[in-house]
Amino acid sequence: MVIESDIFKVMHQRRSIRKFSEREISKEDLEKILEAGLRAPFAAQLCSVVYTSDKNKMKEIKGIGIYPTTKILMFFLIDLNRMEKIMKLRGHEYDTDDAMTLWLGIQDTTLVIENVILAADSLGMGSVLLGVAPQIADILSEVFNIPQRVFPVVGLCLGYPDPSVETDIRPRYPLKYSAFEDSYKELNEEELRECMKEMDEGYITQGYYIKNKAKIPLPEGQKDEIDYNKYSWSEHISRKMIKRKHVREPLIDIIRRHGFRID
Ligand SMILES: Cc1cc2nc3c(=O)[nH]c(=O)nc-3n(C[C@H](O)[C@H](O)[C@H](O)COP(=O)(O)O)c2cc1C
Repeated sequence: MVIESDIFKVMHQRRSIRKFSEREISKEDLEKILEAGLRAPFAAQLCSVVYTSDKNKMKEIKGIGIYPTTKILMFFLIDLNRMEKIMKLRGHEYDTDDAMTLWLGIQDTTLVIENVILAADSLGMGSVLLGVAPQIADILSEVFNIPQRVFPVVGLCLGYPDPSVETDIRPRYPLKYSAFEDSYKELNEEELRECMKEMDEGYITQGYYIKNKAKIPLPEGQKDEIDYNKYSWSEHISRKMIKRKHVREPLIDIIRRHGFRID
């Protein structure tokens, strides 16, 4: 087996890429990363992938923020349709609440996704996830002929990074506040502030929100007193979490519309 790169190097240098060069992804390399992706551990092989390099098709997919220079756009799907057909061939009937099966599907699918991301990075490509995929499930079903009981978890824009764009490696919480030996640790205020500091100073030093003009407005009627120099990751992510409540159709309704039974 050919080892293309040190896996730790690939993991530590990975960052989301949002601008891609003109270089095309070869069919061989695409297959290679998908094969590697689907080597992920699985509970029941509940993941399928749809992808396209067709710009017209990409244009039909509205409301998810596809980056315009994307070479290949992928969607990772929880696929109960295939599982049920296999069960049927074996003479079994699927007749149960879907909550746990959906959970297994998310587990199977997310493992495939990260494998694909790392495999692509190890071949010099870059990618960024698109998290709004479940909310545009109706559009995706239309564009990719996705049947009932198959549901998108996340999208992925893929390509070779544009060499003229330098992309920083983003910080993470300190390990000691995310991984706990023997017993979960509730963080006190000082420790939480340390987490925030690590993230906020990292993003502010990199000028991320100023460069990307990525400030999220507060809900109507709330005065915004934070300017770009102070707008930080912990503020951004908090605003993202509250915004979610105001704008989207409840996910459970969309999941049910796509044929899943949640009792
Ligand atoms: C589930 C998920 C959904 C995401 N959705 C988006 C998205 O819609 N648009 C985007 O630009 N980045 C998206 N991202 C990328 C994150 O913003 C990014 O991973 C995070 O800021 C950390 O940066 P890094 O990937 O460069 O380390 C998403 C990431 C995840 C894991």
